[in-house]
Amino acid sequence: MIHLDGVSKVYQTPTTSITALDRVGLRIRQGDFLAIAGPSGSGKSTLLNLLGCLDRPTSGILTITGVDTATLTDQQRSRLRNRSIGFVFQMFNLIPELTVIENVELPLVYAGMRRGRRERAQDALARVGMLRQYDQRAGRLSGGEQQRTAIARALINEPELILADEPTGSIDAESAEQVLGILADLHSHGRTVVLVTHNASVAAVARRSLRLVAGRLEQEAITPLPVPQRRRRAEAYRAHPVADPAV
Ligand SMILES: Nc1ncnc2c1ncn2[C@@H]1O[C@H](COP(=O)(O)OP(=O)(O)OP(=O)(O)O)[C@@H](O)[C@H]1O
Ligand SMILES: [Mg+2]
Repeated sequence: MIHLDGVSKVYQTPTTSITALDRVGLRIRQGDFLAIAGPSGSGKSTLLNLLGCLDRPTSGILTITGVDTATLTDQQRSRLRNRSIGFVFQMFNLIPELTVIENVELPLVYAGMRRGRRERAQDALARVGMLRQYDQRAGRLSGGEQQRTAIARALINEPELILADEPTGSIDAESAEQVLGILADLHSHGRTVVLVTHNASVAAVARRSLRLVAGRLEQEAITPLPVPQRRRRAEAYRAHPVADPAV
């Protein structure tokens, strides 16, 4: 699904240049659940931004579903992003003055969709157990509720690829379990999930885990016993009534 060959990202500042990614090679297959770990400043967000076509490599080749992204125009890249990729961020990035459902509908507004927006947004909210609070202003929600709303927003276009940058970094442990349960559930339904985290126990939920150190990708570890743990998480998520019983 995604191939990186010798991908580097160099940021130029007035005084120096920073190599945020150094000749990274990586294959991400459809249906993968991949965690990217590494210390602060090691290039995790930079890598995620490249995967999400939010930024371009300085050198190297980044191919998404067989297309070399360097050949795409800005418009084609943003179309790819809107249709195929859902983003989840550490700080949620919701618009606090808008309601929960208005936030979730926003990608459909940008995509120019007129009819059926409400229904789609309701479905997405039900999937993350946030339907009951659909009319609440996003700024009033707890961190965990904001993150579940942000996941609903990321799901609204039914993206094949979910990119999550420290999605549990700003929420309490119980909400983090819910969020990881939702991501594990999305993976078990065939989505490709790439998760950036500092936290080893969060990374353990994924099936593959990679480590970045100073912009270089370290030898990959395939988590030896990932399935029972992922299953437990997914089951815990299903057992807990976060999903709205009204649906
Ligand atoms: N727009 C930019 N301009 C200049 N330097 C940047 C820019 N974005 C990132 N960097 C630098 O690139 C390096 C990698 O940054 P990145 O944000 O990818 O790290 P990270 O692994 O996500 O860190 P954290 O865990 O703290 O979020 C850092 O040294 C950072 O200062
Ligand atoms: Mg980061």
